[in-house]
Amino acid sequence: MIADILPDKVACRDAFDDSADCPLFPEEEALLVRSVDKRRREFTTARFCARAALGELGLPPVPLVPGERGAPQWPSGIVGSMTHCAGYRAAAVGHATDIVTIGIDAEPHEVLPAGVLDVIVRPEEAVRLRRLADTTPEVCWDRLLFSAKESVYKAWFPLARRWLGFEDADLTIDPTDGTFTARLLVAGPVVNNRPITELTGRWLARDGFVLTAIALPTG
Ligand SMILES: CC(C)(COP(=O)(O)OP(=O)(O)OC[C@H]1O[C@@H](n2cnc3c(N)ncnc32)[C@H](O)[C@@H]1OP(=O)(O)O)[C@@H](O)C(=O)NCCC(=O)NCCS
Repeated sequence: MIADILPDKVACRDAFDDSADCPLFPEEEALLVRSVDKRRREFTTARFCARAALGELGLPPVPLVPGERGAPQWPSGIVGSMTHCAGYRAAAVGHATDIVTIGIDAEPHEVLPAGVLDVIVRPEEAVRLRRLADTTPEVCWDRLLFSAKESVYKAWFPLARRWLGFEDADLTIDPTDGTFTARLLVAGPVVNNRPITELTGRWLARDGFVLTAIALPTG
């Protein structure tokens, strides 16, 4: 499903259960010693997806352990992103020569728990969400905003190596073409001598899930 919102140059894999047989590397096992079963299952299936996607790029299976602030450490020359929520896991990777950064996120297609929207929404976004809810009430726009902001952070962090708050990006969601744009309200990282001022992505609400994805092409 995530493939539907990523460019062809990005290799991806998703899973709707944890039935895949995915042996973990010792350094991955070591991270799970004190983890509950839910964490073990999401971690393992996400690695299964990531190794399958890396295989599509011609890379052998490698350990994928979280690095700085939880960001995955991909093999040299590879960019990528992983996500997991109840009933869904996915990973997406690309060659750094094609793609600058990737951020993907999956959420259950449900209204956000009480109080969460207030923490993540900017006033101008709240106005837009109300308009979207009036015209297309079947989509949980609050959840989509949340997911898009998570994707923004996952795409941002490997480049900037610093925090980006929910208030630091102003998101506009296009309900008709399935895209969104995040205008960065803080100085962004400089890539190829150009500061990144916005990130655009695609979204999908289908089969009980909300998916968002950003893949910034080089050049
Ligand atoms: C890190 C964060 C984005 C993860 O999102 P989530 O919806 O909670 O969880 P998901 O299952 O979708 O994603 C988890 C995966 O994100 C990845 N991830 C974690 N930290 C990351 C980081 N700093 N940079 C990039 N990817 C990261 C990891 O691959 C992780 O999987 P793993 O732990 O199995 O390795 C989220 O917990 C968070 O801290 N958000 C606050 C920052 C933010 O969203 N700002 C908004 C900017 S507009």
